[in-house]
Amino acid sequence: MEMKILGIESSCDETAASVVENGSKILSNVVVSQIDIHAAYGGVIPEVAARSHIEAINPVIKKALTDAKLSIHDIDAIAVTHTPGLVGSLLVGTLAARTIAVVNNIPFYPTHHLKSHIYANWLSGYQPEFPLLAAVISGGHTQIIHMQRHDHFDIIGTTRDDAIGECFDKIAKILGLPYPGGPSIAKAAQRGNPTKYKLPIPKVDDLDFSFSGLKTAVLRAVQKELNLPITTPSYELQKHLSEQQIADFAASFQATAVNILIQKLKKASQKYPAKSILLAGGVSANQELRTQLKKTFSKTHQVFFPDPKLSTDNGAMVASAAYYSIQSGESASDPYDLDISPRSIIH
Ligand code: KG4
Ligand code: ZN
Repeated sequence: MEMKILGIESSCDETAASVVENGSKILSNVVVSQIDIHAAYGGVIPEVAARSHIEAINPVIKKALTDAKLSIHDIDAIAVTHTPGLVGSLLVGTLAARTIAVVNNIPFYPTHHLKSHIYANWLSGYQPEFPLLAAVISGGHTQIIHMQRHDHFDIIGTTRDDAIGECFDKIAKILGLPYPGGPSIAKAAQRGNPTKYKLPIPKVDDLDFSFSGLKTAVLRAVQKELNLPITTPSYELQKHLSEQQIADFAASFQATAVNILIQKLKKASQKYPAKSILLAGGVSANQELRTQLKKTFSKTHQVFFPDPKLSTDNGAMVASAAYYSIQSGESASDPYDLDISPRSIIH
């Protein structure tokens, strides 16, 4: 049966809605980003994010329906991110979705944000084969997940401190590059020498990660390069750095972060059977990472990453994740009775 799902996403700083048919065909995809607002502060301010979602949510949902040339009565299910994320932000999207579901009597599916990021790969026009390994790498998460089938998630590696995207964002701040750090580091790195500064690979057992040490290592390397004491605050450093030094630090850090991830995925692929390897989440937009992943795995695995505009937060991935949950037998939830939660484990 044909199924059109309206997916709604508001867990961080993107207000997004999309209509997806049968889990893979995007009929519309509307994303309103607050990046310009938060760039002024160098990061996401939760209260500002929630307020901006309130202003954007209704027009965004309306545009998703109009762009798809549909009315709400053509929608078979509503899916919305209910965890994890910023509480105030999650509340806005979930409240809008619940209201629309109740008023129009549409089946309602709360959806896990990390699961949605993984399902952005089903919007690429190809179907990843199981079993698979997915690296969920974003501003808030760094996990390697083994999936044997749809709707089955086994977390086999996770970060013990900072997320990889957070590390990009914090190092960009040290270098004086604009928020969000991922894209600005990638851009600066194009002019830099990735072997200029030797940065340490954190020693973490098994398939887990640690990124806070790498951030400190970059801070110390910058202080050393500038002959400044280690007591120099990080915000003082950027004005002493030349364009070339910034580019070299960006390239050296990016190469190290990519290397850490590739090494862990290699280890994971030796331990867990997988036909496909997937990247998901904001950091999966990184071009250098995509190139290295293909180089490392394309002979042994099918390699997938989302279209770059579907790497960061969007409603289409939410709709796709819900579709495959429904196919796997998940029943609709009661829209009157939904909890949001800032932290949670995918299962
Ligand atoms: O998935 P996402 O939009 O939000 C979360 O769920 O966290 O990911 C945002 C993160 C930010 O940390 C941003 O710096 C990073 O993704 N990012 C990138 C790139 N584009 C976005 N990191 C590295 N390279 C990129 N090209
Ligand atoms: Zn996300």
